[in-house]
Amino acid sequence: MKILITGGAGFIGGNFVHYILNKYPDYKILCLDKLTYAGNLETLKPVMDNPNFKFIKGDISDREFIYELFSEEKPDMVVNFAAESHVDRSIEDPGIFLKTNVIGTGVLMDACRKFGIKRYHQVSTDEVYGDLPLERPDLFFTEETPIHASSPYSASKASADLLVQAYYRTYKLPVTISRCSNNYGPYHFPEKLIPLIITRALADEELPVYGTGENVRDWLYVEDHCSAIDLILHKGREGEVYNIGGHNERTNLQVVKTILKELGKPESLIRFVADRPGHDRRYAIDPTKIHNELGWLPATTFDEGIKKTIKWYLDNREWWQHILSGEYKDYFNKMYGNRLAES
Ligand code: NAD
Ligand code: DAU
Repeated sequence: MKILITGGAGFIGGNFVHYILNKYPDYKILCLDKLTYAGNLETLKPVMDNPNFKFIKGDISDREFIYELFSEEKPDMVVNFAAESHVDRSIEDPGIFLKTNVIGTGVLMDACRKFGIKRYHQVSTDEVYGDLPLERPDLFFTEETPIHASSPYSASKASADLLVQAYYRTYKLPVTISRCSNNYGPYHFPEKLIPLIITRALADEELPVYGTGENVRDWLYVEDHCSAIDLILHKGREGEVYNIGGHNERTNLQVVKTILKELGKPESLIRFVADRPGHDRRYAIDPTKIHNELGWLPATTFDEGIKKTIKWYLDNREWWQHILSGEYKDYFNKMYGNRLAES
């Protein structure tokens, strides 16, 4: 079995590379990544010398390059993690989100049609469903919930999903789609809430919380996302969408306070800053389908997962300190400078 994993130098793709090489030592893994600001070869260092692993630098939206790659490598399966993934960046500059997330998905599927494939899997997100009201905790996203994206990022992911479903219906391409809730765990880029709070709290820096901190996210430990995708790849039904989530809803303020308590840092570091435009209020996944059909259940509760994650950031300071010392500084000042000054 040869699997092409795109975006494998990023957070979830990197964790998936480690998960698959561990679980299936005889599989061949090709990892394709453009190495944008979010891609990091340090994440793949432990597997670089594995004879069943090969890293290729490239862009999923570069048709000529992708066709050449498929012609040479002829993968059996493709798992597409490659994406621009940060909502705040999509609000600043949507263009690259359309190119990578929509055009890139189309190019990969065209290559699958041209060269043949056993399975194309699209890693999507619960954000394609839009948001749920805070005062209706009884509501959850199911696979039948209408697509209703809020940000340029989620609109680009929703567009990609529609394209994947169209390729299934029109060309019978053997596709599956998973829509997962918020992930956290090792190798998470520190622009996202949990690693941002951990790394800044460790340095006793101000912690920006958007709006009132009451928005709710449904957190899943990244390894549980990997095990779900593994099941869908091997046992999921072609043409189907599977929601992935573990009923771990928390307000942002609860998450920040949990991290501060675990680190022994004061809540006085918290700053309420100007809200994200169009900020989705609540995400909450109903994972009944993947549980009933494929027997998937998450293995890690939020309380265990957040402890493991904090320990990983404490034990792997070099991985994130390297990121914080580069262009990330300019990014942080641009995104948060005024907001923190006004808080
Ligand atoms: P990430 O930003 O950490 O990683 C994305 C990776 O894709 C990076 O390594 C980057 O270099 C690479 N990449 C970007 N553009 C590329 C291109 N044109 N060609 C090839 N590689 C490219 O993202 P992540 O958080 O690991 O998310 C991975 C996927 O999972 C995304 O599709 C995202 O929409 C989806 N997802 C993320 C979450 C989450 O909580 N992080 C939840 C559900 C779904
Ligand atoms: O739900 C899945 C999605 O989760 C994925 O599709 C996205 O790729 C991923 O980035 C994530 O999106 P969010 O926007 O939910 O994640 P983020 O970590 O950016 O923000 C989580 C919540 O915390 C959100 O309500 C905004 C808030 N927040 C975020 C940052 C970065 C803050 O309050 N302060 C911050 O500094």
